[in-house]
Amino acid sequence: MRTKKIALLLAGALLGGVALTAAANGSGQDILKQQCIACHAVVKPEKTTLDRLWERKGPDLHYAGDKFNREWLEAWLQNPSTLRPAGVMYAKTAKPAADKSADQIDAIQLAPHPKLSKEDAAVVTDSLMALKVDGLVQKGGFKNEPVNASFASMLFSKLRGCTSCHAAKPGTGGQSGPELYSAGDRLQPDFVAAFIKDPQKFTPHVWMPKLDLNEADVQKLTGYIATMKAGEKK
Ligand code: HEC
Ligand code: HEC
Repeated sequence: MRTKKIALLLAGALLGGVALTAAANGSGQDILKQQCIACHAVVKPEKTTLDRLWERKGPDLHYAGDKFNREWLEAWLQNPSTLRPAGVMYAKTAKPAADKSADQIDAIQLAPHPKLSKEDAAVVTDSLMALKVDGLVQKGGFKNEPVNASFASMLFSKLRGCTSCHAAKPGTGGQSGPELYSAGDRLQPDFVAAFIKDPQKFTPHVWMPKLDLNEADVQKLTGYIATMKAGEKK
């Protein structure tokens, strides 16, 4: 009886060991280290200066598991589309429009994002989704209350001025922030609610202003952004 138990334990330990080695070879972690960290932070950056933000080559990914919807992430890594029309260093290329309606981008050539194979995208997605930061995004922060779409749209475009930096539809609005017309596919609503309350909590000095939105507006804007999905006109 006893030996049987030990044998089972041993078998379990062996299997566990095998699974661990398999995950460590050509793993998501390795790919991140070899192909991604030149441009992306995958651990919380120690330097939080403006210089660091100015010099960084890609958005921070150390809280990717708090931010992205897994399905979107895995698909995007295989077929990346432009999210930030001005690149990640929008401040270097964006200039305000004369009439202050929406900022304009100086003509720039953005290098295409590296593409991953289906297999690599799957393991890298696993590794990225495991990157979370305690206390950054409140679980259940988005209450998913029904939103009046036309009011929320007005809040987004007119009252709160989000469209001066973000596109709610392809080819419209500002260009210095990431497009938001695929944000419903891309982002976890709890992330959106936390981010728009305090963008600098995520990335110190980042150019999105802290807008001091009240809780009701945060909920409405997040609910509205959650409906922005590729192929759906909003
Ligand atoms: C040469 C620099 C560079 C390398 C190397 C690179 N990226 Fe990126 N990455 C960028 C830039 C720039 C963006 C912003 C693109 C945009 O917004 O259109 C980006 C965006 C992303 C995003 C979306 C982030 C967000 O917040 O919107 C993810 C996810 C990502 N990269 C993952 C990876 C992974 C995984 C690798 C390695 C396999 C990698 N990147 C390699 C520069 C790079
Ligand atoms: C002055 C320009 C500006 C305004 C106004 C602005 N944003 Fe942003 N926003 C940004 C920038 C720049 C980023 C990108 C930060 C980064 O790349 O890390 C961003 C990021 C975001 C993100 C995260 C998107 C992603 O994929 O990383 C959301 C959601 C967002 N903004 C929503 C809003 C909402 C809602 C409003 C209006 C209440 C708003 N923003 C107003 C500039 C702006």
